[in-house]
Amino acid sequence: MSVYIDEKSRLFCIRTNNTEYQMKADEYGVLKHIWYGKKVGSDMSYLLEYPDVGFSGNPYCAGDDRTYSLNTLPLEYSCEGTGDYRISALSVTHSDGSNALDLRYKSHSVKKGKYSIKGLPAVYGDSEAETLEITLCDTASGIEVVLRYGVLEKLDIITRSAVIRNNGEKTAVINKAASLCLDIPFGDWEWIHFHGRHTMERVPERAPLFYGIQESSSTRGTSSHQQNPSVILCSPDCTEQSGECIGAFFVYSGSFSTKIEYDQLRQTRLTMGINPELFTWNLSAGEEFETPEAVITYSDNGLSQLSHNFHRVIRENICRGKYKLAERPILINNWEATYFDFDEEKILAIAKEASALGVDMLVLDDGWFGKRDGDTSGLGDWFVNENKIKGGLGKLVENVKALGMRFGIWFEPEMISEDSYLYRAHPDWAIQIPGRQPMRGRYQLLLDMSRKDVQDYLYGVMCDILRSADISYIKWDMNRSISDWYSAELPPERQGELPHRYMLGLYSLLERLTSEFPDVLFEGCSGGGGRFDAGMLYYCPQIWCSDDTDAFERTKIQYGTSYIYPVSAVGSHVSTVPNHQTGRITPIETRAITAMAGSFGYELDLGTLSDDEKADVEKQIKKFKKYGSLIHNGKYYRLSDPLKDNIAAWEFAAEDGSEILVQGMIFRTEPNMKRYSLKLAGLEPQALYKMAGTDEIITGSALMKGGILLPASWGDYSPVEIHLVRTEN
Ligand code: DGJ
Repeated sequence: MSVYIDEKSRLFCIRTNNTEYQMKADEYGVLKHIWYGKKVGSDMSYLLEYPDVGFSGNPYCAGDDRTYSLNTLPLEYSCEGTGDYRISALSVTHSDGSNALDLRYKSHSVKKGKYSIKGLPAVYGDSEAETLEITLCDTASGIEVVLRYGVLEKLDIITRSAVIRNNGEKTAVINKAASLCLDIPFGDWEWIHFHGRHTMERVPERAPLFYGIQESSSTRGTSSHQQNPSVILCSPDCTEQSGECIGAFFVYSGSFSTKIEYDQLRQTRLTMGINPELFTWNLSAGEEFETPEAVITYSDNGLSQLSHNFHRVIRENICRGKYKLAERPILINNWEATYFDFDEEKILAIAKEASALGVDMLVLDDGWFGKRDGDTSGLGDWFVNENKIKGGLGKLVENVKALGMRFGIWFEPEMISEDSYLYRAHPDWAIQIPGRQPMRGRYQLLLDMSRKDVQDYLYGVMCDILRSADISYIKWDMNRSISDWYSAELPPERQGELPHRYMLGLYSLLERLTSEFPDVLFEGCSGGGGRFDAGMLYYCPQIWCSDDTDAFERTKIQYGTSYIYPVSAVGSHVSTVPNHQTGRITPIETRAITAMAGSFGYELDLGTLSDDEKADVEKQIKKFKKYGSLIHNGKYYRLSDPLKDNIAAWEFAAEDGSEILVQGMIFRTEPNMKRYSLKLAGLEPQALYKMAGTDEIITGSALMKGGILLPASWGDYSPVEIHLVRTEN
């Protein structure tokens, strides 16, 4: 049991193995936030203060009490227009044009199992999970809010979502409905958010909170390369292994907003939800709107623990399907080897080289369909281009299978090229505003995914392709940001619903396809990591992490990604040198080590390698097969900060502590350079560990406190790899 309610004092406690979350409905029915942090087992509302702060007004119900103010109290779900001037979680325009909301406690219930959200990805739990629902009501308008809390006790995970219900008589318009609102009245905090750009995603930035509002968000219709829908608040002294931190991520792939306000009383409020910019939702009488889900965790053992909690819930309670925990195929993708310039002979030659070295699957990337010899045409025409693939897809797939490999294929379903049969037949299926010229991105427009006919078309053509040949994998790409929001099917007052309806349409199509083809592995992609979020991971257990395949740059991208997302989610390939994004030359061993910290593959023509390099590739594949489960299902530790240090190093530790793999690279070598000693993490202090290839036996304590001496590096981007096994003597 994880939900405890003291009916008399109306105290609601959620207790997980190590954490506790408390709320209290007070004498006025205001639901106050009391505590989120370490498990305490006692009502923490004694810590609340009621200061009489100037220009912090008092609700009518408080009478002459100037110390009771919605502007100073920690609140569970803040509203607009009734005296809380901090960030609001909910904003609604009523039929009379007013915006005020005054939510008061109405009822609560506790249910076995974890709630789900209609049409949206969400954490799923087993029978041990619990759901707490607290209903709040704005009596004047009849707007009700059901706050839902899903609890995965053993994982120290709490999920949040809200249902906004219109029990009034007239239509109300939702302007904003956050999924998470978290007030933290105590402590000094810093925040870590993940910014970036195309080919340089999820760069962590840690900064103290300033007074006022800091925001990380996207208005691009995707979660974006530029900001990630995840955030961490941490104490200034928080390190990888110690200190307090609270993390949140959003299970959503569209525009989002994470805001943190540090207020006049040095209190912190965090909100996370659909970005209210370019969003409205008409809620007719009797209707309800369900927000997407936000997931939170707390650690007082530093950032590693927080990451482990998130890795676990994403791997085990968000990712689904056959591949969620299974070994992923090692694949070879032809994109960087050929771009659009290929035919079936070239593809088969790449497959042949790869199969001889042990690769499991060939993935045919962009350019196999319609009139697609470059990026200006063909999107939407999902039929095979037999000028390039002579004999059709079926024959190519059979030839690849004859080499002992499986076959995967690229789609960019949400897009339409103006130069396509599809556009000529259905110009109204493209998102564009009548009377305006739409923005193009990579020459392409977007399909209106909110439309059922568009979803059905895509479902039909994708099913046709998937049934026409033995296809085991789909790469689902998405190569532009969305603009010019307008749907030919929606009335004017509902146009603001399109960004969210687009997401509902996309998720519905993904749900249909992943259910229809449960054996197919779906890999998400959006110009690499432009839609790297937990929403996509619900359908695709791995996502192409970045279009930057340079091993040096990748260590930084994967480092940032690892704060929230598990290694198994990270699509990562060995590519050629000089690297196509940076021109950098790195040793093939280092490239492989970097790509192995992910769902591993190759993205080059292996036939261009020397015999020595081919032998290396063969060894790398064997190595990934040997360590794959440790890498994907073990605990991941960041051992250095590659954005600051001259070394990128990380550790995979088996859950039972029996085995450790340390990998990474030393960026620059200097003459007469002192050797690095790397402090390991998460070992049993008393246990003995034997280092592979040596007779050395060292205690866990020594490895964590003193560290391990790395071999001297040679050249730049010199590989690091150490394997340790726990031993009895
Ligand atoms: C962007 C992807 O990230 C690449 O890997 C590749 O699939 C191209 N799109 C193809 O257009």
